[in-house]
Amino acid sequence: MCGIVGYVGPSGAGEKSVEVLLGGLKRLEYRGYDSAGVAVVDSEGHLDSRKRAGKLQVLVDDLEADPLTDGATGIGHTRWATHGGPTDANAHPHLADDGKLALIHNGIIENFSALKAELLAEGVEFLSETDSEVAAHLVARAYRRTGDLAEALRAVVATLDGAFTLLVVHADQPGVVVGARRNSPLVIGLGDGENFLGSDVAAFVAYTRRAMSVGQDQMVTIRPDSVEVVDFDGNPVETTEFDIDWDASAAEKGGWSSFMAKEISEEPEAVAKTLLGRVADGAVTLHELDGVADRLATIDRVIVIACGTAAYAGILGKYAIEQWARVPVEVELAHEFRYRDPVLDEKTLVVSISQSGETMDTLMAVKYAREQGAQVLSICNTQGSTIPRESDAVIYTHAGPEVAVASTKAFVAQGTALFLLGLHLATLRGTMTSEAIAEQVTDLQAIPEKIERVLESSERISTLAGWMADTRSVLFLGRHVGYPIALEGALKLKELAYIHAEGFAAGELKHGPIALIEPGQIVFVIVPSPRDPRSLHPKVVSNIQEIRARGARVIAIAEEGDAAVLPFADEVLHIPLAAPLFESLLAVVPLHVFGMELAAAKGLDVDQPRNLAKSVTVE
Ligand code: G6P
Repeated sequence: MCGIVGYVGPSGAGEKSVEVLLGGLKRLEYRGYDSAGVAVVDSEGHLDSRKRAGKLQVLVDDLEADPLTDGATGIGHTRWATHGGPTDANAHPHLADDGKLALIHNGIIENFSALKAELLAEGVEFLSETDSEVAAHLVARAYRRTGDLAEALRAVVATLDGAFTLLVVHADQPGVVVGARRNSPLVIGLGDGENFLGSDVAAFVAYTRRAMSVGQDQMVTIRPDSVEVVDFDGNPVETTEFDIDWDASAAEKGGWSSFMAKEISEEPEAVAKTLLGRVADGAVTLHELDGVADRLATIDRVIVIACGTAAYAGILGKYAIEQWARVPVEVELAHEFRYRDPVLDEKTLVVSISQSGETMDTLMAVKYAREQGAQVLSICNTQGSTIPRESDAVIYTHAGPEVAVASTKAFVAQGTALFLLGLHLATLRGTMTSEAIAEQVTDLQAIPEKIERVLESSERISTLAGWMADTRSVLFLGRHVGYPIALEGALKLKELAYIHAEGFAAGELKHGPIALIEPGQIVFVIVPSPRDPRSLHPKVVSNIQEIRARGARVIAIAEEGDAAVLPFADEVLHIPLAAPLFESLLAVVPLHVFGMELAAAKGLDVDQPRNLAKSVTVE
């Protein structure tokens, strides 16, 4: 959690680090918004800093009322609190060396208590309850000894356990920002006479599209005209530059009331861009998997690992891969997978799914799976992030930056990538005819336009959400791919509207959840197509009747022209006709809109729900 940004630019007139830092923090605020702070070093060697509890805007207002002296060098932080509550004192940067050194931290220093005791014994005074302030004083102590900021930080990281990205500036070293990373993200932005550091590329995409990743246990020193990367032993490291394919405007609201509203509107594009260049002439081509093609052909099992929304997308992948490629698939929450001693071997394909590419639980599960000999393929939305680097292969979803904390467009892009993977595996394994594959490809290519049509009826959902602002509990039911959609619908209501919501497999209803139904209980039901060859439709219609008989208010999401549900549903939201697996990508859209609109009707911040962070980089 926490967002960090660092900047060095030309010194002299027009020094602008405060502007760059605040702009970067604005784009990283999704990573945490308990407090924000910046530290700036001017060319005269003065360090000035400001930090405030609350969202970034509190700091921005404070700096407007009482500006800092700007400088060409600076660091900025937006916090998701772990050690110590969200107060001004616990906000970053933390100062040391009589206010001449400033440090920011993302992660958790696990051995901070012992290190703090050592510093207290030396008479160091602490102003906060954080683990991070310990690092600041340790670097200051090492700097007094070495006189070199990079050397000082390198000496300190050798003594730290846990996860950290640390950035440090010192008043005596204008024009230098030093960083180090272990188990937390850090990317470099390469400018012209200026350089940047950030938790992800969104931090600096407004200034440059050229970037480089910093690897595990590596350190970086940026100056206006140079970037130096070394490992924790001080050996130079080769780094490769990559181009960021997001543009700056993609990370702006662009006239929408919220990032979430904008991101839901981009769901058609997220699917279309994820398909781009990967489907042609009725076939699927995933060139990014060429390097692992031999091993893919020999797999006998797939395990999908992910957290939150990404895990629900994983269930779509299970149904598609098993049906098409005839290989068993399990889906598991990454944090459960890792600690249960799973049976893995070289014939196991582990598919990890992560929008951010930084979720710690997923990252650790990826590392574990590879240690056990499994091959790991990641589905990820963020270039330069850690999970792809730790994987054998990656399929990037091209959903563009997702800023709102609760995931929406990433879900449909992940579903699309999994469908592509299913068809790719079916091609490799020869389990489908080319005609059958071509039929699926054609249906998949039609999905963006169909999502567009679902979005056109969003107003109706807003009205429904407005009526339900006082609702205390909502249930979601679905079968087959409707089941993960029910889970996703429920998660959105929990995350966004703080309403108790549960998603159930409709077949499970009679085995317990039906006891929850009392007069007035709102139940969303995802109804499969009446054209579905597995005849799930009549079963779901029966489920609707069962809950209606007990007083539930039913909102059905059903295919256009499905007349069978009309007599039993209080409301029907129609979606266009699609192939059974792909209906999921349509049915989820009204639920995303509903979660957002209900939260808005309750006056809540849909982009930054309480207690959450977008990228959970602690276990
Ligand atoms: C957090 C977010 C969720 C997201 C999950 C996985 O819990 O609040 O919206 O689904 O992390 O994130 P990832 O970046 O790994 O997809």
